[in-house]
Amino acid sequence: MKIVSSLKKMSDFSARAKKINKTTGFVPTMGALHDGHLSLIRRARRQADFIVVSIFVNPAQFGPKEDFKIYPRNFKCDAALCRKAGVDVIFYPNARDIYPAPYRTYVNVEGLSDCLCGRFRPGHFKGVATIVTKLFNIIRPDIAYFGSKDAQQALIIKKIASDLNMPVKVKIMPTVRSRDGLALSSRNAYLNVHQREDAVVLFEALNLAKKLIKSGSSSPAQVIRRMKQLILGKKSARIQYVAIVDLENLEPVAKIRGRVLVALAVRFGNTRLIDNVIV
Ligand code: PAJ
Repeated sequence: MKIVSSLKKMSDFSARAKKINKTTGFVPTMGALHDGHLSLIRRARRQADFIVVSIFVNPAQFGPKEDFKIYPRNFKCDAALCRKAGVDVIFYPNARDIYPAPYRTYVNVEGLSDCLCGRFRPGHFKGVATIVTKLFNIIRPDIAYFGSKDAQQALIIKKIASDLNMPVKVKIMPTVRSRDGLALSSRNAYLNVHQREDAVVLFEALNLAKKLIKSGSSSPAQVIRRMKQLILGKKSARIQYVAIVDLENLEPVAKIRGRVLVALAVRFGNTRLIDNVIV
């Protein structure tokens, strides 16, 4: 396994892979790898010849009051997990090379970036869209893998690839959960014991929505009210949003018909967690 920090070396590696007709599978991450990330890497391992994992805590997607400085970083441990999972290259660039000063060019996906998480994290998806576009340009993957835990992010990236005619297939993989249902996330490490116990309510609320909708509930307002009641039963929970939206444009649906995305963001203390399910 190679560890590459230079942008030029990374591009050269990809160019050589193309020349010998090998496919590249790419998994972008911010490190602090867990089984959710590894599920994407394993899938890539099965579907492509060369596997590139990027590890870059992207400053452009954090707000000024967010957790950029304290975001968990453990390169040694991440590298060991990647090696074990059969990764060929870890792309581990530094911020000065990715955003050379004065940096001025950003990618913005209109309509999909300001709703749901975007309302509470202004500029977040602009940062995500920009870094993923840059990584795609540097690595030129044939297939890139994203988790449906970050459903809005996944949709935005699919839209970038199609709107900008990028020659990459974007695959969205299922959410990996811990035994009690909490979606794995690098940020779960911030939770104290009580918050960790309370956080299971996110999965319970999504299951409640599933049950209500499957048994015929068609009023989003009613389903959302029941979910909020359940979540607010936990002492440490502060809801940012609970929403039932269209799968393509992320707009709230007036009536539940066909497939919808049920998504939520809740803070437990200072830790903001998100989760979702397609019903
Ligand atoms: P990060 O949070 O490290 O996540 C990297 C990838 O792993 C994302 O596609 C995310 O959706 C996926 N993932 C996270 N938790 C998961 C879980 N429990 N099950 C399945 N997949 C999961 O998302 C980012 O980094 C960044 O925004 C990034 C795309 C790398 C751009 O900086």
